[in-house]
Amino acid sequence: MKFAYVLVLMIWPMSLFAQDRDFTLSAPQELWDTGLLKHILPRFSLKHGVRITQVDQNGDVVIGDEGAPAFSGLGKLWHLSEAEGEGPVLFAQWLFSDIGKRTVNGFKLDGEPVFTTDISVAVEIPDMAFDGDPIAGESLSLEHCGRCHVVNETNRMKGMGQTPSFGVMRTFEDWDARFATFYVLNPHPSFSQVTDITPAFRSNLPPAIVPLEITQDELEDILAYVATIAPADLGAPPQSQ
Ligand code: HEC
Repeated sequence: MKFAYVLVLMIWPMSLFAQDRDFTLSAPQELWDTGLLKHILPRFSLKHGVRITQVDQNGDVVIGDEGAPAFSGLGKLWHLSEAEGEGPVLFAQWLFSDIGKRTVNGFKLDGEPVFTTDISVAVEIPDMAFDGDPIAGESLSLEHCGRCHVVNETNRMKGMGQTPSFGVMRTFEDWDARFATFYVLNPHPSFSQVTDITPAFRSNLPPAIVPLEITQDELEDILAYVATIAPADLGAPPQSQ
């Protein structure tokens, strides 16, 4: 068995009080070898005064094949294990925050970025059919999209001001492609999950917004419904949003 070695990444004066937030982390050797973790972990530790100890396996936090997809690189998607405990949860929140993502994306080997947190590139978009059920599609749209988008008259007062209505988006020449892939178009990726298409949602994090979870069949129903919506009469070329 390999001997477990310990790397003290950062000893912060606060750690005296924050010891219960300290945690261990394990990841495949090929990931350590890139230097990514030595790039990101001290930055997290510095910010939160949490000490992370590297272990060979079974860390409190594991970066590998299971958990929430965090970044891609070296030809695969890297996941963060479900986190329990204050330190691991803080780390998950940091890694998925803008600062954490920038830190991962900013890591370079020989001047070249190696990892990207834009994991939507790893999502393969299946062909969509238009033979869904438009009646079911209407209620699904109101339920899942109506929180932000005005879907039709029935939720006209409930949409969010800056968010384009379905009628406006129906005027886009490529409305069908955009609806079929809405989950990779901003702002949706951070809160949307389509069963069997997008990587599993990171259930260990309190999402900033209530997550949107639908199946591909339900999305086809939504498409079938949107096809029946009359494009809004804007009297002028629509803005591209
Ligand atoms: C939490 C709020 C929210 C929810 C829920 C939501 N959207 Fe959106 N959506 C937005 C915002 C905000 C924009 C405008 C983004 C922009 O202008 O850059 C948008 C834009 C879009 C676009 C156009 C994207 C583009 O780049 O052309 C489509 C299509 C879309 N939404 C479809 C949907 C569908 C379908 C659902 C439900 C299954 C849904 N949205 C649920 C907030 C939301």
